[in-house]
Amino acid sequence: MKNIISINQETCKKCLLCSEVCPNKIPVRNNSNVMAARPDRIGLCFKCGQCMAICSTQSIVVEGLSYEHDFFILPEKASYENSFKDLIHTRRAIRNFKDKPVPKDLLEKIVEAISFAPPSFPPLKIKIVVVQNAELIKTALPNMIKLYDSLHENMKNPIIRFFIKKEVGKKKFKTMQEHLIPLLKSRLPELKNGTEDTLTRHAQAMILFLVDKNEEDISQDISIAATYGMLATHSLGLGGSIMDIIPPAIERDKELRKLFCIPDNHEIVTSMIIGYPKYKYLRGIKRNLKSVEWL
Ligand SMILES: Cc1cc2nc3c(=O)[nH]c(=O)nc-3n(C[C@H](O)[C@H](O)[C@H](O)COP(=O)(O)O)c2cc1C
Ligand code: SF4
Ligand code: SF4
Repeated sequence: MKNIISINQETCKKCLLCSEVCPNKIPVRNNSNVMAARPDRIGLCFKCGQCMAICSTQSIVVEGLSYEHDFFILPEKASYENSFKDLIHTRRAIRNFKDKPVPKDLLEKIVEAISFAPPSFPPLKIKIVVVQNAELIKTALPNMIKLYDSLHENMKNPIIRFFIKKEVGKKKFKTMQEHLIPLLKSRLPELKNGTEDTLTRHAQAMILFLVDKNEEDISQDISIAATYGMLATHSLGLGGSIMDIIPPAIERDKELRKLFCIPDNHEIVTSMIIGYPKYKYLRGIKRNLKSVEWL
């Protein structure tokens, strides 16, 4: 596998922040005490830029990204409350949290923000479940791991694979094959031995977005609502991420449906994890749209 990550050993302070924030823990300190990309995980790098956004010495470079063109320095103190630009510049998908509960009044503010999201056809048909008890999330993790472990095994069987493709449709199946399965292959060992949590990321709180299975298609409404939730989370000094990896694991497990009070006739479309961010990013990330046409 081609090494697309280079680390300048002379400037690197071995602070390990790049490893901590990398969604797949790709940069690591190896046995020779050198920071390097894990060869078995390098294929999981999807160039999100989080490692470069946090490195204080600009020592890590991911092929295709440059400090000069793809990042910008964030102000010491951004005034989230007042400026939309500051808000979107400083938001990141947060996957490392302090061991500190999120107060209920802040979760209420996030819920309030979600309720301001535009519905395609009013009224809002989204239901949410707010999990404010981190212990509940912890309790659910082993079942989630079991579900993904068996999915990973099943995907090795061409007949079961055929039926999964039929059930989820071509597009979802492509996402599964290109992203989910390689991720599971690489990360299940550590998930199973309890050294890493790729699924719930030790989140302190979680919001599940549900829809009645008999309702019209409101998946776009839900994406917008989750975006409102994410921005509200960030504006309150909290952090989090939308997590599409969580719903399927709850959906298909009777115990977890019960644990999170999911009615039988409802499905979970997406989820958000929430907590106090453990690390501070130095840079924002600029991303380009695939194309912009001005007519
Ligand atoms: C619809 C959606 C689903 C996502 N699902 C996951 C997920 O299951 N697990 C995860 O770690 N991150 C998930 N993310 C976070 C993205 O990976 C993240 O936003 C992306 O890498 C860019 O990083 P940034 O948000 O810091 O700019 C999701 C984001 C979106 C928009
Ligand atoms: S964040 Fe930068 S300085 Fe710290 S270990 Fe990674 S490459 Fe080295
Ligand atoms: S770009 Fe993202 S996925 Fe790739 S090494 Fe950096 S943090 Fe990890």
